[in-house]
Amino acid sequence: MLMQLKKITKVFGTDIAEVRALKGIDLEVDAGAFTAVSGPSGSGKSTLLNIIGLLDDATSGEYYFDGEKIDNSNEQHINHLRAFDLGFIFQDFNLLPVLTAQENVEMSALSSISNAQERKAQAQHFLEQVGLEDKMNAFPNQLSGGQQQRVSVARSLMGESKLILADEPTANLDSENTLKLIELMRKLNQDLGTAFLFSTHDERLLAKVNNTIKLLDGEIV
Ligand SMILES: Nc1ncnc2c1ncn2[C@@H]1O[C@H](COP(=O)(O)OP(=O)(O)O)[C@@H](O)[C@H]1O
Ligand SMILES: [Mg+2]
Repeated sequence: MLMQLKKITKVFGTDIAEVRALKGIDLEVDAGAFTAVSGPSGSGKSTLLNIIGLLDDATSGEYYFDGEKIDNSNEQHINHLRAFDLGFIFQDFNLLPVLTAQENVEMSALSSISNAQERKAQAQHFLEQVGLEDKMNAFPNQLSGGQQQRVSVARSLMGESKLILADEPTANLDSENTLKLIELMRKLNQDLGTAFLFSTHDERLLAKVNNTIKLLDGEIV
């Protein structure tokens, strides 16, 4: 088992404005898994992926990665997991407009790969893996949405991530690019053994996965 959540809760706000976004989530993800999280808007998909991706803290519960319990006060452990083991793909790509595709990918590994040559080589390698060998020096605004999302997939692989979290990665893509992106994630999953956990409410995407977790009102149903 790669990661495990036990009774994870998340409460936003306080008192009258309190929102219980996650109400005790138990979840296990194996190494090399390809798993979808589905559920309507507001069901807690982003909150769940943000917690697993260490972009946000849970209110209560336990989180284990590679058998080790994550302690929110252990910054060294958290930074290490962020730098090496976890990758994140965002709905709106989140590329820096002033950097080229290659620089965007390299940037994400500034803290994990100290050798600049090695960083560059790994960025080029992953850009080739996602089929962008001829777009390495293009800026985001010179790329299509599908290409920008592939840059962000390459970025998420830097540091040789074990688990990629993708929050509605196809929400801003047309249907052709949606299918291409799913096929790409599936291929990387098979070739590299990287586990993927992605949220979606796209039926075409859900049809491609054998493992789907359904969320409703902050609970797995
Ligand atoms: N930063 C926040 N502050 C307050 N409420 C939030 C915040 N983020 C999410 N929520 C609430 O938590 C619930 C789950 O949201 P979210 O995880 O974004 O769901 P989904 O991604 O499935 O649409 C919703 O009721 C949402 O309004
Ligand atoms: Mg969301």
